[in-house]
Amino acid sequence: MTTTTIVPSTLSADFANLGRDCQALEAAGADRLQWDVMDGTYVPNITFGPDVIAACRRMVGLPFEAHIMADRPEDLLERYVKQAGCEMIICHPETLGMPHRTYHQIKEWGSRVGIALSPATPLSHCEDVMDLVDMILIMTVNPGFGGQSYLSSMEQKVTRARLMIEASGRDIELEVDGGIGPDTIAGAAKAGANVFISGSALWRYDSFEEGIVDLRARADAARQDMD
Ligand code: DX5
Repeated sequence: MTTTTIVPSTLSADFANLGRDCQALEAAGADRLQWDVMDGTYVPNITFGPDVIAACRRMVGLPFEAHIMADRPEDLLERYVKQAGCEMIICHPETLGMPHRTYHQIKEWGSRVGIALSPATPLSHCEDVMDLVDMILIMTVNPGFGGQSYLSSMEQKVTRARLMIEASGRDIELEVDGGIGPDTIAGAAKAGANVFISGSALWRYDSFEEGIVDLRARADAARQDMD
């Protein structure tokens, strides 16, 4: 069974104390952190530039992944790798002028490649680049904000993505993002996900550690039922 990875989204963090929250999440057992990068154009929200993430990079040892929700982000991506220290760059294919070229460039920089699919974006965007992909991210909300309701209708898409990954024979992670919490993580896990983003639900627990332990246990239990 592939390992369960719990990835807090810093979108729910205290923006006045980002470094402190990153350190608390590391101490609580998070596997890595996701930075939701929003440009106010592709999604109606603006969040983290590379300088902000770089400031937090110096404060924790956790791997960082950058979920880029921005139109034509190609000119910025190198700074998220080299300045902000993100070891994975996740893009929405419809925002890229030449996706294959961008994915190849990300690998050249030594970072890993994620493909994020919004609810209406088809899995076919992954079909011809599976040799370059390290992770498929199935959005279980429409991108732009935390705290939205989980779209259980995306579970069939998660399962189809899992079948695609198995057919590829490659070690590709399958991540879900949006509305993931104690009541939804089991469904996403049963559908085939093994990497789970949590923002608002994680911040609702009494402690980060309690949340990470509970979410991981729920995902593991759901996935063991499948074996
Ligand atoms: C949407 C964001 C959110 C975030 C997680 O663009 O990508 O999905 O990471 O937020 P919650 O867990 O609060 O839905």
